[in-house]
Amino acid sequence: MIRSVVRGTGAALPRRIMKNADFEGMVETSDEWIAQRTGIRQRHIAADDETTASLGEAAARAALANAGLTPADIDVIVLATSTPNNTFPATAVEIQNRLGMHHGFAFDMQAVCSGFVYAVTTADLYIRGGLARRVLVIGSETFSRILDWSDRSTCVLFGDGAGAVILEAGEGAGTIDDRGVLAASLRSDGTHKEKLFVDGGPSTTGTVGHLRMEGREVFKHAVGMITDVIEATFSQAGISADDLDWFVPHQANKRIIDASAKKLGIAEQKVVVTVDLHGNTSAASVPLALSVAVADGRIKKGDLVLLEAMGGGFTWGAVLVRW
Ligand code: ACO
Repeated sequence: MIRSVVRGTGAALPRRIMKNADFEGMVETSDEWIAQRTGIRQRHIAADDETTASLGEAAARAALANAGLTPADIDVIVLATSTPNNTFPATAVEIQNRLGMHHGFAFDMQAVCSGFVYAVTTADLYIRGGLARRVLVIGSETFSRILDWSDRSTCVLFGDGAGAVILEAGEGAGTIDDRGVLAASLRSDGTHKEKLFVDGGPSTTGTVGHLRMEGREVFKHAVGMITDVIEATFSQAGISADDLDWFVPHQANKRIIDASAKKLGIAEQKVVVTVDLHGNTSAASVPLALSVAVADGRIKKGDLVLLEAMGGGFTWGAVLVRW
């Protein structure tokens, strides 16, 4: 059977790093509060010339180089983002053009922080359905552009960046030992819209708007939703937490990551954490964390890797991949 096998990863971060202490003169907060409540120590913030498209392009080029491929080898680009360069056309098409790619097709997916997990699942279906042989999956965000910089309860949490993976059609035997995407579970529930949303849009205010979040409410739901969807993925694949080599969760808050891993019985040393370095980069957080753990040699060929995310909507989901 056809499996979607990971062929390369890449990442791109804005040049400017903003430390927690840099907020101290802007809003009433402290390095200690941010680090204790979230685990975040710094985040990257895009300069005027750095956009979702430029960061996405750089991450894509890094993934192509890592895979030893060129844009000519790619059939489809799927970009997960909630901060596109324009309302339309899709930023994926702009990235396609920046890569000098004029064949195939490209489109954006919007599932906020779960966007990358949704996009990997979509790419897997294109590959297994025979519509594409190689899909470039990118998560790229410039959340700094939709933050209310006077709201201390949100502005300290987010950062900018991009990550990318290339999925390629490979042959599998249909067992858990196959390389590639092995199982996935996605969910959404719109009753939670007001807990995490952007208060603008083309069809309502005609403006871009700012991110609004009831952090305590999001926190309250996060661990239960994350663990439910992971357990559904485990049972689909017929595995348990002990079989995992790596857990690569959405990087929103270290306390949510720790509580989810503990509830699932995933050992601390198997958890990839980059929230301290990147903050919450929404759809870019999982591919950024992946590319860090691949680059430093932790994630290796044959490893069983669990990806998970949860975000605005609410949306949430998990994907199990053998590297
Ligand atoms: N500095 C100092 N004090 C602050 C700050 C700050 N930056 N922000 C809020 N506070 C204050 C609050 O005003 C509150 O004060 P009060 O008690 O006088 O009212 C106090 O700190 C405690 O606030 P809580 O909201 O209860 O703090 P909590 O421990 O819940 O931490 C946080 C807040 C970090 C936002 C947490 O709730 C959280 O991480 N929530 C989940 C966010 C998340 O995971 N989002 C994921 C999805 S993101 C996406 O999809 C785009």
